[in-house]
Amino acid sequence: MLRLEGVSKAFGPIRRFDVRQRRFVDPRREALNRLAAGEDRSTVEDDLHVNVALRDVNIDVNKGEIFVLMGLSGCGKSTLLRCVNRLIRPSFGHIYLDGEDITTMDAKRLREVRRTKISMVFQHFGLLPHRTVLDNVAFGLEVQGLLRADRYARASAMLETVGLADRTDAFPHELSGGMKQRVGLARALVSEPDLLLMDEPFSALDPLIRTSLQQEIIDLQRRLGLTILLVTHDLDEALHMGDRIAILSTPDEEGGNVMQVGEPADIALRPEGEYVSRFVRDLNRVRVLTASDMMWVPETVGRVTEDPVVLYDRMDRRGLEALPIVSDRNVLVGRLTRTAARTAARSEAFTADVVDALRTVEGDCPVEEVTSLLLTDDSPLGVVDAGGAFLGIVRSTHIVRLFESGVNSDDE
Ligand SMILES: Nc1ncnc2c1ncn2[C@@H]1O[C@H](COP(=O)(O)OP(=O)(O)OP(=O)(O)O)[C@@H](O)[C@H]1O
Ligand SMILES: [Mg+2]
Repeated sequence: MLRLEGVSKAFGPIRRFDVRQRRFVDPRREALNRLAAGEDRSTVEDDLHVNVALRDVNIDVNKGEIFVLMGLSGCGKSTLLRCVNRLIRPSFGHIYLDGEDITTMDAKRLREVRRTKISMVFQHFGLLPHRTVLDNVAFGLEVQGLLRADRYARASAMLETVGLADRTDAFPHELSGGMKQRVGLARALVSEPDLLLMDEPFSALDPLIRTSLQQEIIDLQRRLGLTILLVTHDLDEALHMGDRIAILSTPDEEGGNVMQVGEPADIALRPEGEYVSRFVRDLNRVRVLTASDMMWVPETVGRVTEDPVVLYDRMDRRGLEALPIVSDRNVLVGRLTRTAARTAARSEAFTADVVDALRTVEGDCPVEEVTSLLLTDDSPLGVVDAGGAFLGIVRSTHIVRLFESGVNSDDE
């Protein structure tokens, strides 16, 4: 839905006369080229009197996802966001919204797009101090040319959505930070945008309000099918909220600002390159992991319809102490130990009679929960999908390995 192609932004003069070449050159282009060649950023910027914020940014944002831009202060996050609604124009490259190039839009079309398709929530709320909460939200609709009654009806409904129905007549200074941010959110959402831009919307809030507002925005986003481009420099927030995350650096890193784009687990567990690795090093990686990240997938299972003799023989040959037992439709039935198989073989019992029940968790069960289950009872857990089909096994020893290595342990 949103596509950034080779977007670069350098602040500074767009022309200078080059004495040696005896012609005008574009210092921004020159600066970008020199950075691409690996030259030192401050030398280049001092030489050419430009300030490079973005270099060769390529990003694709899908419809209906929360896409997070994450990086240290000064890496160009705000600049990137401002390029998207063209508060500033990129120096080079293109930005397409639903196939339409924002970088070349005329003023009239740009106003229309800002009114109907893109909204922005600012870091410091940006509310009008002398208007009530309701007026602040309705203001966004005024420019759309809606009738007064319609504007107020829609503004009220949106304030209800963000939990401020009882504060519509208050003035901004009478509200807490969290409430102000909700007003900002309501104002951005009331025009029913397709794309919501959020520049560190939670950074002014205290931790408790921050967490609850984060969750509300996720819920709202799912409900309204919004696409959100969210800027943050908080990795926890990025991992919690993002469907996908782009880790940004300053423009002098090799390849430009974008270091890695991936899902939260990719960033946390499979960081690419030194920069991103350093970035996620102190992250509590366990938090984003699930049962399926830590489970062991056995090379073989037994079927409940198979004879205990056959199953005993299989375990014996492979040196296994137990086998997961599944039905013909791969639903997990339980676990057969070698001892039980041998006893059953002697007494001519059926496999179904001697299978031990296994506790099960679904594959997306968070590691914390898996851990607490294994701490109360260290017998293994079966991991299944939503339909009960067998995926793998988690044992208490896997937890230890998880802390040591991070990812799947691969043997029993
Ligand atoms: N109008 C401007 N003129 C010149 N340089 C600018 C301008 N706006 C931003 N910059 C420069 O661009 C770079 C990126 O700034 P930007 O505000 O996008 O960073 P950021 O990632 O949003 O940082 P923060 O996390 O502190 O908000 C910085 O080096 C900054 O000095
Ligand atoms: Mg910023």
